[in-house]
Amino acid sequence: MQLVLRIAAYLTFLLGIGLLGRLLGMYSLSGMVDMLHMLLGIATAILALVVLGNTIRQDGIRGIAAWFPLLPLALGILWYTSMNGVMALIAIHAVLGLTAIGLIEMHLARRKRAQRAALGQQ
Ligand code: HEM
Repeated sequence: MQLVLRIAAYLTFLLGIGLLGRLLGMYSLSGMVDMLHMLLGIATAILALVVLGNTIRQDGIRGIAAWFPLLPLALGILWYTSMNGVMALIAIHAVLGLTAIGLIEMHLARRKRAQRAALGQQ
């Protein structure tokens, strides 16, 4: 499940970079890319809650990583539904998206270290 979360997060990121290039007029892309980015973004937000949700009440990165992807998702949905063309919104969206993926990675790395340490103590 952790692997699926990471794959969804990285694909969302890669497609997001592609969409940024199109938005800046560098090339054109099929509308499928928008749809895939949106679906993978929704999957990332749901999977983060499922995989990391048990730590939501903890402080620091552990708790934040579970719900943070909901922020870029909310801005992405705003862009898609009513605020299409507001460049500041998509710039904030991209920064929050990158932050969300970084937080997920940090959380998973900490979890792995903790598991290794626990195994070492046995
Ligand atoms: C968890 C992270 C993310 C989620 C949940 C997410 C979700 C969404 C959603 C729902 C939309 C609106 C539908 C669409 O137009 O495709 C969108 C649009 C967009 N996203 Fe993301 N996104 C995430 C991360 C990123 C990242 C990291 C980048 C860039 C590096 C990015 C760049 C964009 C761009 C440029 C658009 C506008 C596409 C267009 O209509 O031209 N997103 N995102």
